[in-house]
Amino acid sequence: MTDKTQSIHGQWSSRFAFILAATGSAVGLGNIWKFPYITGENGGGAFVLVYLMCVAALGIPIMIAEIMMGRRGRQSPINTMQTLAEESKADPRWHYLGWSGMIAGFLILAYYSVIAGWAMAYIVKAFFGDFINSSPEEIQRLFQNLMDNPVQQIFWHTLFMYATMAFVMRGVQGGLEKAVRFLMPALFVILILLVAYAMTTGAYEQGVTFLFNPDFSKIDGDAVLTAMGHAFFTLSLGMGAIMVYGSYLPAHISIAKTTFFIAGADTVVALLAGIAIFPLVFANQLEASAGPGLIFQTLPLAFGHMAGGWLFGILFFVLLFFAALSSSISLIEPAVAWLVENKDIERHQACAWSGAACWLLGVGVVFSFNIWSDLKLFDKNLFELLDYLTANLMLPLGGMAIAIFAGWMMKSSLAQQELEIPEQGFQAWHFLIKYVSPTAVFLVFLHVLGVL
Ligand code: TRP
Repeated sequence: MTDKTQSIHGQWSSRFAFILAATGSAVGLGNIWKFPYITGENGGGAFVLVYLMCVAALGIPIMIAEIMMGRRGRQSPINTMQTLAEESKADPRWHYLGWSGMIAGFLILAYYSVIAGWAMAYIVKAFFGDFINSSPEEIQRLFQNLMDNPVQQIFWHTLFMYATMAFVMRGVQGGLEKAVRFLMPALFVILILLVAYAMTTGAYEQGVTFLFNPDFSKIDGDAVLTAMGHAFFTLSLGMGAIMVYGSYLPAHISIAKTTFFIAGADTVVALLAGIAIFPLVFANQLEASAGPGLIFQTLPLAFGHMAGGWLFGILFFVLLFFAALSSSISLIEPAVAWLVENKDIERHQACAWSGAACWLLGVGVVFSFNIWSDLKLFDKNLFELLDYLTANLMLPLGGMAIAIFAGWMMKSSLAQQELEIPEQGFQAWHFLIKYVSPTAVFLVFLHVLGVL
């Protein structure tokens, strides 16, 4: 169906374009919204340390594997897995891995879009000066009002979903490739600025200590699982997003170097967000464990009191919106690519159908913050359930399967040929992907199940 040198969906124009897109996928709400709030919920330093270890031992080798497999297969993850399994004479059922990834991306986008909608709502609030000189109580009330208002949340969720599908429709070289080029560095600069403000709050040291001073008595098996799941989530791994991006990667571009850059940038952004937020939490006697509302209840305080805060507040939420957008397109791209390959429909139809279905599930997520907040399964509302199912279960299991496939099923000569890295580097990667990554994920699951 495809030749081996290019995907039918197109190709990145350069290595730089791929780096932008993949970094755009990795850096998103996961870094700025999710990392701080789950760190706060799980006691800080020890959780951060486990997360960093997972990025190094699991994230980097598995990202290399995903990109490599995508480039070799050159199709949507489902069909890529099928082709690679045939090539390596592995069980054809490996293509179910592509299916589980496609479903995971779909489930994540449903809630991702709702949260990105909050960021959009906050652009407007920032613009109308709602944060200026506000007290912590007023800022909290502002957030609570949004939570209690399903209509407003659905409005923004709809707009975000529409924006996502509009970009996906234009294919891999659409406008976002150009936009991300400016937006990523700008986001970085604003984060540095927020860190500088955090230094003036008087609780900077307390915040940094909270983040980097590990106290292992504060974490249990479930916290370790959350940290591991987040390493996958924040790097967009375990569901085929990076695989499908890899499938648009021209031949002879160094996958390993690119991976180090992406993982490094992603980690730095998350840590900066943490360093900006926790001093504000402690300086204002807020709860570190406030949950998904954490950044919306803290950062506006900084914007409301710092010089130039009106403008920076607007800029920050605009940039957060774009960071979310460059991530959300990678969540649905595997599904769209698959629909186009297998269902003989046009790209715009594939976008319309998948976008509409995802939107509907997102409406349920909006309700889980208000009218359905008491509707619980396993003690979790719909938002929490989707998040746990995807980030804590599907992504690590998907990542483990990818590691097993790359390490045990694929001929190592094929992998080596695709990766084009020096022998020693290849051996190191192969050892990690074959033994370390699958074992680590497996052990964490055994621990959570209470076996270990
Ligand atoms: N990595 C993104 C973030 O941190 C979210 C994301 C995009 C993602 N694509 C993904 C998560 C694929 C898991 C799988 O915000």
